[in-house]
Amino acid sequence: MSEPRKLYVRSFGCQMNVYDAQRMTDTLAQEGYVETDSPDDADLVILNTCHIREKAGEKVYSELGRLRKAQEEAGRRQMVAVAGCVAQAEGAEILKRARSVDLVVGPQSYHKLPELIAAAERRGGNRPAGIVETEFPVEDKFDFLPPPTRAAIARRGPTAFVTVQEGCDKFCTFCVVPYTRGAEVSRPLPKILDEVSRLADGGVREVTLIGQNVNAYHGLDAAGRTANLTELVRAIAEVPGIARVRYTTSHPRDMDDELIAAHREIPALMPYLHLPVQSGSNRILAAMNRRHDRELFLDIVARVRAARPDIAFSSDFIVGFPGESDADFADTMELVEKVGFASSFSFKYSSRPGTPAAGMGEQVPEAVKSERIHALQALLDRQKAAFDAACRGRRFDILIEKPGRFPGQLIGRSPYLQSVVVEGPQEAIGTLAEVEVREVSTKSLSGDIRGGEFFMRNPARESRFIGQSEKLEA
Ligand code: SAH
Ligand code: SF4
Ligand code: F3S
Repeated sequence: MSEPRKLYVRSFGCQMNVYDAQRMTDTLAQEGYVETDSPDDADLVILNTCHIREKAGEKVYSELGRLRKAQEEAGRRQMVAVAGCVAQAEGAEILKRARSVDLVVGPQSYHKLPELIAAAERRGGNRPAGIVETEFPVEDKFDFLPPPTRAAIARRGPTAFVTVQEGCDKFCTFCVVPYTRGAEVSRPLPKILDEVSRLADGGVREVTLIGQNVNAYHGLDAAGRTANLTELVRAIAEVPGIARVRYTTSHPRDMDDELIAAHREIPALMPYLHLPVQSGSNRILAAMNRRHDRELFLDIVARVRAARPDIAFSSDFIVGFPGESDADFADTMELVEKVGFASSFSFKYSSRPGTPAAGMGEQVPEAVKSERIHALQALLDRQKAAFDAACRGRRFDILIEKPGRFPGQLIGRSPYLQSVVVEGPQEAIGTLAEVEVREVSTKSLSGDIRGGEFFMRNPARESRFIGQSEKLEA
């Protein structure tokens, strides 16, 4: 038998790229490719790219340069494919800038990878020109992408992303996503349920439903009527084995009353909501075409908090959007003060070719953007530190995901996505443990197991592990 071919996939950007990378790996596993975590010994390298900001978009070219050099030094040839949002946005331009690329494939064509790779192979080693596939095909790729094997599910651990909605029809004036991912499409509910059941059979306990506008989800159910995100979450929470459900990224405009109530009614829905606001200034929100104002955002925050008092929020912010004045920026700072975020992502506005904002006058100077982002991030960091500090002494369930750095250590996640380090047995991975938080640092929390699924199933081991970290410290 010939050696299996080795595949290395590197993803940049958002969680959808992480999910897509797994689906590409599953597709190529059927063609005999096995995953490797080193690009150097791979026969096929896929760079799964992100186009959201200029810096993200440029990363692929430095990576391609590095790959080419390594290939030249080793005197060997690898096949190199560029996938993801840069592939969609730049297409054949990539082949002009980086001659080592064999294949450029956009996000809606991943089901065609085997035939595209075969075609690129037929072109041979001298790379007269690579192959470019960036059409938005009529067929639904999800109908053709094979599911992961049980072994692949187990390797990926007890948490999983599942794409339920892809693309965006909102057209915020700064954003490339509507062009790179295409129009908003929702997957049918029964197909998502099948996928989640299969993941749960393989040991997955927590699913994060992902979409560029996940709360605009409107997929067909088994009876052929349209189901919304609340119905989908409800159905998934019922799947045996699934203990936790999350969804991201939602848009404030699509946070309806039903979904807000779901945060009160569905215990498996985690009390943590990522809700991007971008700016606290109504003038800037209008120029961004966000279709919501600060009042709507604050109103949603209040209503979600009323439904689920222990909920925490995270958000995305852009500073230095064209025309943003000191007063506009002050509005953003004030909104942040008002809400209090547990975690956040903030970015300097990056002008993206082809978007309406790129052509707007009054671009904000780099120095001003830098000043504003520092002030904003300092405030957001203080809020995160305060939120984490308030967790000290609290008890909550963590989902144990993997071994820690040191023997006997395990790492899990709190309901608020914080990393939590505990002492415990390897067999507890994939279970919910009740943990009392003892220490808080900037990167993670640490705590002591007080109970939980593993210990209920193995009462004999309870006394050995519960409270063990305290003993170790003493
Ligand atoms: N669909 C989500 C997120 C899309 S991209 C939403 O509707 O909010 C993730 C984040 O990147 C955005 O929320 C925004 O804060 C940031 N972003 C997008 N385009 C950007 C640009 N041109 N410059 C700087 N940040 C940008
Ligand atoms: Fe981009 Fe706006 Fe769509 Fe989010 S809602 S993906 S920011 S266009
Ligand atoms: Fe980037 Fe595309 Fe995601 S641009 S953020 S990889 S949708």
